[in-house]
Amino acid sequence: MKDLPETERLSNVGPDSFGVRMPETPRSSSELYLDLLKRVLTRYNFASPYAEIRPWDTLWARLLQRLFQAPLQAWGLAIVRRTTVDPESRWEGRTPGPPECETQLSLRSLNNLQYCATEALKRGIRGDFIEAGVWRGGATILMAGVLEANGDRDRVVWVADSFRGVPRPDPTRYPADAGDTLFKDRILAVPMEEVQANFVKYNLMSDRIRLLPGWFRDSLPHAPIRELALIRLDGDLYESTYESLRWLYPKLTTGGYLIVDDYGCMQSCRQAVDDFRRQAGIREPLREVDWTGVYWRRER
Ligand SMILES: C[S@@+](CC[C@H](N)C(=O)[O-])C[C@H]1O[C@@H](n2cnc3c(N)ncnc32)[C@H](O)[C@@H]1O
Repeated sequence: MKDLPETERLSNVGPDSFGVRMPETPRSSSELYLDLLKRVLTRYNFASPYAEIRPWDTLWARLLQRLFQAPLQAWGLAIVRRTTVDPESRWEGRTPGPPECETQLSLRSLNNLQYCATEALKRGIRGDFIEAGVWRGGATILMAGVLEANGDRDRVVWVADSFRGVPRPDPTRYPADAGDTLFKDRILAVPMEEVQANFVKYNLMSDRIRLLPGWFRDSLPHAPIRELALIRLDGDLYESTYESLRWLYPKLTTGGYLIVDDYGCMQSCRQAVDDFRRQAGIREPLREVDWTGVYWRRER
């Protein structure tokens, strides 16, 4: 895949490849496993052609559902809408995945995560993997898959989330979050049991999966984590991003990777990253993941 950036050469998935282009070198069974894992987590090319009607669908669709859904339910029927999928935009992550997927990440973003995790293993970078802000757990499931596929027996995958959505903004301490309404979004509140069940569904539940429930400001300062080789931040807000950086970055080993999901799409997240990098004197350049994500490799 000559035209894919370095971080994506591990995967044969691109908007133009669509499974018809032969890779340059034969793929191993673990590469194929990880490729399939990413496609299933995102339902890329596996999405159902029908989906539930969601709050942001048209007024007509919502009215129809309200009028007829209850009586139809008695016969085991439901009103759904047809879904159309633009593979390129799904690959890039500009349109959300289908309602049943286990991650909101784009395939590009999962490719980047696989690249960072694999590089950390290949280069022998000490430490565990963590995501702060896991939703249904998809990205952490991929982290566990990468460890298994590479025969790693020692590292832990830390799964940090409130498991009840994002916090109410606290503008006194974090002015950049003033007026944010994401805390009302119930779709972001995924119970811990559902995340655990998703690990079981992918046959990746084990004692290496450690859950850290609670707001990051409370859970991360006392988390029994010693060293990290890979940190992925996906908590949207200034508070969530800054508190994660504050408590986790000092544990990132030299050579380890730091990925931030919302840098391009959330002004508050970008400000938190910029503030932290300035205060901590971090000069490693930001590299692009997809239309919103960035990452860097710790050099000192
Ligand atoms: C956008 S979703 C994460 C998407 C996920 N990485 C994926 O693979 O689809 C944001 C998540 O961050 C969590 N979150 C945000 N701020 C938080 C905070 N301050 N403390 C704990 N959890 C937080 C929410 O509960 C939610 O699950």
